[in-house]
Amino acid sequence: MKNHRVAVFRKVTFNAAHRLYRKDWTNEQNKNCFGLCANENYHGHNYRLDVKVTGEIDPSTGYVIDIAELKMITDEEVMERFDHRNLNLDCPEFKDLNPTGENIVVVIYSLLRKRIDSKYDLQIRLYETDRNYFEYPA
Ligand code: NI
Repeated sequence: MKNHRVAVFRKVTFNAAHRLYRKDWTNEQNKNCFGLCANENYHGHNYRLDVKVTGEIDPSTGYVIDIAELKMITDEEVMERFDHRNLNLDCPEFKDLNPTGENIVVVIYSLLRKRIDSKYDLQIRLYETDRNYFEYPA
C-alpha cells in the first residue's frame, strides 16, 4: 500500500493573563488601540491551541507521529511555560513583545517546531476566544 499523508491533531488548553500595550504610549492611546485588552491590571483568556502535524503513515506502527510524544512536547513547551502565567510579567518570550494572538501563535510555533522532526509539516491555530483565532503558518 502506498504511503498516505495524514494530519494528526492535538488540542491543548491553557489559561493565561495578559495586557496589550505599548510602554511608549499613554493609557488613552493604548485603550484606543487595544480596547479591553489594554486594561492596566491585566485580564485572562482561556486559550485553546490546535496543533496539526502532517506526515506519512509509518507502515511499521500505523502512526504518523506518536500522540503521546506530541502530548509530552506540548506539555513541556506550552503548558509548563504559559499555563496559569501572566504572559507579560512571567514569560521572557513576551518581555519585549506584545502578547497578541498573532505574536503568541508565532512564539508557540517556534517552540514546537524545534521539537518536531522536520519530516513533518506543522501548523497551529490559537483560539483566544471562541470567535477570535489565529493560525500560523498562514
Ligand atoms: Ni486580551
